[in-house]
Amino acid sequence: MAKQPNKKTKVETTGHEWDGIQEYNNPLPAWWLWIFYACIIWGIWYTIAYPAWPMVQGATKGYLGWSTRANVAEEIATAEAANAEINARLASADLNAIASDPELAGYARSAGAAVFKTWCAQCHGSGAAGAKGYPNLQDDAWLWGGTMEDIHYTVSHGIRNEDDPDARYSEMPAFGEILEEPQIEQVVNYVMSLSPTYDPQDASLVAAGEEVFTDNCAVCHGDDGTGDIYQGAPNLTDAIWLYGGDYDTVKETVINSRFGVMPPMGGAQLTEAKIRAVATYVHQLGGGE
Ligand code: HEC
Ligand code: HEC
Repeated sequence: MAKQPNKKTKVETTGHEWDGIQEYNNPLPAWWLWIFYACIIWGIWYTIAYPAWPMVQGATKGYLGWSTRANVAEEIATAEAANAEINARLASADLNAIASDPELAGYARSAGAAVFKTWCAQCHGSGAAGAKGYPNLQDDAWLWGGTMEDIHYTVSHGIRNEDDPDARYSEMPAFGEILEEPQIEQVVNYVMSLSPTYDPQDASLVAAGEEVFTDNCAVCHGDDGTGDIYQGAPNLTDAIWLYGGDYDTVKETVINSRFGVMPPMGGAQLTEAKIRAVATYVHQLGGGE
């Protein structure tokens, strides 16, 4: 039986031919073509309706006036309106009553954790464990005090900053300009002898170092070296170091002193409710007094 001629051979060709293979000139299917045109029209409509065309500054705004910024602002406003009542309650509650009000405390802890991630984690670490020069907020060693009032004050006004006249302030002198080199070596060894984590580099200097300490350091760090929260002077007898307790670091601290700065979070930065939320969060991390 003769083979049927291929129907397609009747189709018009473009006239192109390679190695005996001809290129057909089939029309595009109508359904495909209409979708294609619809896409073009939809595309043009889209760039008119929504922000699209770049201009010298910014871009066309779009007929519908849509913007991601407006969306976010709206969502935030909705969330804040939903929390307005409990925020007002938190902002006016007695600081020490927050922990014993389960609803308020639960809200403050979770809102405070969110505030902490945004405003505090860059310095204190996302788990609040701190870093060199940035105190660990999980332990019960406090430079400036660990009661709700203390933490609330520290967060509101910050530490050693120029933006808030009520900031916590103190300044350890740079003893490189005050003491002779041998005295510095003595007192560094004495400080190391107080520490449970380090032994003095030269035990024979400790006794002389104690005298230097009593004359120059005890006024802030206390006669026994346990520190003073009214001056933010660290306890030198625990195993916790803000800058470090090895010989070189203590010597560096004594010669040049330190000046840890924390910005104030009150005023324009955080609302009173947010400050209280984050203070509650920090307070309950473990070491709150
Ligand atoms: C720019 C860095 C920075 C940021 C941001 C920051 N802190 Fe601090 N914070 C510090 C430093 C530095 C100290 C220690 C200052 C010193 O040496 O006395 C400190 C100290 C503290 C203390 C006192 C600790 C103690 O032992 O008494 C608390 C509480 C505290 N911060 C909470 C917060 C909270 C809560 C936030 C966020 C709302 C925050 N900090 C944001 C740098 C920062
Ligand atoms: C005017 C008060 C004051 C005096 C006097 C003073 N200190 Fe300090 N000292 C501080 C304060 C405040 C800090 C914390 C500084 C900071 O965080 O920026 C500090 C920090 C330190 C640290 C760092 C502790 C750590 O955890 O890393 C050491 C060590 C230290 N002092 C030793 C001494 C010695 C030794 C003397 C005497 C020679 C002395 N200080 C005198 C106030 C004082």
